[in-house]
Amino acid sequence: MGLAARFTVNKMRFDILTLFPEMFPGYLSQSILNKSINRGLVEIHVHNLRDWTTDRHQKMDDRPFGGGPGMILMVEPVVRCVREVQTMSDTPGQVILLTPQGQTWDQTKVEELAEAKTRYILLCGRYEGFDQRVIDILNPLEISIGDFVLNGGEVAAMVLVDSLVRMIPGVLGDEMSSWDDSFSRGNRLLEYPQYTRPREFEGREVPSTLLGGNHAAIERWRKQKSLENTRIRRSDLLPDDEKTDP
Ligand code: ADE
Repeated sequence: MGLAARFTVNKMRFDILTLFPEMFPGYLSQSILNKSINRGLVEIHVHNLRDWTTDRHQKMDDRPFGGGPGMILMVEPVVRCVREVQTMSDTPGQVILLTPQGQTWDQTKVEELAEAKTRYILLCGRYEGFDQRVIDILNPLEISIGDFVLNGGEVAAMVLVDSLVRMIPGVLGDEMSSWDDSFSRGNRLLEYPQYTRPREFEGREVPSTLLGGNHAAIERWRKQKSLENTRIRRSDLLPDDEKTDP
């Protein structure tokens, strides 16, 4: 089945909940994302968590019970914010909490989620994290973008938006181009090397197979380079029948 047939979603909505909404406009106004928003394929709403506080000082965080360093994001404004934002569209959407404690984000998860949902509520943490009751009450999908600690979930939220949006048919110029990406469903290998003009630069020539116009030979060359690249850099990605040297 082709990509367009598998991915029936034709519009996504993201609601990003953050203490730093001003981090997003620059990123959202660029390139593919901006075009997708203008074409009505993607809607992104950024909400300031602080708007859901009720006290005069708009207090969002407090010291941990039991002591210890840092501040904890308070359960009340966070839960109120998520519940209200859920009512802003006809589906409540998938709540996703960005945290280094979550499941690791990878292309398989991108594809699964893009198929399963069209609306995502991304909850960005700061400080030492959320009061545990945020997780117990909202039961979010907890996602980490890797085994390192960021200063907050905002950059991770951008990573999720960026990778999910590419799954909407029509967002990329050529619908098949996300199909061929490294790690995606059509190809779990790394990519083959690509070249453009000039044919020679500082003594380095473009491989002759790519200049010959023999499409079957080009396909074979690319497949072989893709395997070679994967074997050298990421042998864990190789299918079992390719794990031993040829
Ligand atoms: N917040 C802090 N570190 C993070 C990570 N690695 N992934 C997602 N959210 C985070």
